[in-house]
Amino acid sequence: MIIASAPAKTILYGEHAVVYGEPSIACAIDIRVKTKISESGTIEIKAKDVIKTDIDTILDRKHISMRNKGELRYVLTAIDKTFEKIGKEKTFCLDISSNIPVGVGLGSSASAVVSTISALSNFMKEPLEIKEISELAYEVELEVQGAASRIDTSVITYGGGVLVRGSDIRLIDIELPMVIGNTGITGDTGKLVAKVRERRERNPEIIDRIIASIGEITLKALDALNNKDYIKIGELMDINHGLLDSLGVVTKELSELVHVARRAGSLGAKMTGAGGGGCIIAFAPGIEKKVVSAIREIGCSSFISSISKEGVRIESDN
Ligand code: PMV
Repeated sequence: MIIASAPAKTILYGEHAVVYGEPSIACAIDIRVKTKISESGTIEIKAKDVIKTDIDTILDRKHISMRNKGELRYVLTAIDKTFEKIGKEKTFCLDISSNIPVGVGLGSSASAVVSTISALSNFMKEPLEIKEISELAYEVELEVQGAASRIDTSVITYGGGVLVRGSDIRLIDIELPMVIGNTGITGDTGKLVAKVRERRERNPEIIDRIIASIGEITLKALDALNNKDYIKIGELMDINHGLLDSLGVVTKELSELVHVARRAGSLGAKMTGAGGGGCIIAFAPGIEKKVVSAIREIGCSSFISSISKEGVRIESDN
């Protein structure tokens, strides 16, 4: 029996623009998906926490290839690609448990994919290198979503902070806690990425400049993070949020949370992840609890993120 776990993540700067090759910064946060794999005569999948259904799924190899089961597609594609990479197959019981809220931009699907690849390759006694896990998880997201960058899968695999630009992944040091606010509304990453693509196709000159500006914000933010320039870190978040709004991925609820966080004294706040619902992050050094309370007062859940230095890891192997 093997248990692997992987953290959640927040994107600090650069979501959506990263799909077009611009840089993006993300950090891993300390809430985790756990994937347990044990011996079984069939392929059995229990993933209530990540697919929001109370039906356990028993599959044979043929059904795995169908990959048409909504959110379960991420896990099924991860199994398929791990089999392909290792070059053999095996039956097993896979049990995923998670305390990451699903579909709100905190990386629940990517964490399930990364922990599944790690657990399964270890279970099959062919453990993949960290770099291989990161790349395979990216291929899974690409296949399921149609378009994806490496930002989610790399930060969840490596942990800590990352700067991603195309296929280049740089590990960076981020220590700052963020306040997370959750609208409780789920967004569909694939659809939101498609929405931006369509807006870009209709207005290429304008949108290309917005995407390039988001890339510049990310690079300036990297300097600000390195220099602990708090004012700049916050201000760049605010600007990034405005540009995401112009891409069409910010909702009324996200805007409301951002404004609540700013009014409570945050130095900056923005939506995080694909948008269309989901979460915001707010930078509020020293007054994090006040911002959490302000967000909770309007009926939304909120917590202070603590950074997970560790990415994917094996929890138990016996
Ligand atoms: O997985 P989410 O919903 O947090 O969004 C990922 C960020 C995007 O830039 C919108 C997509 C991607 O693959 O980079």
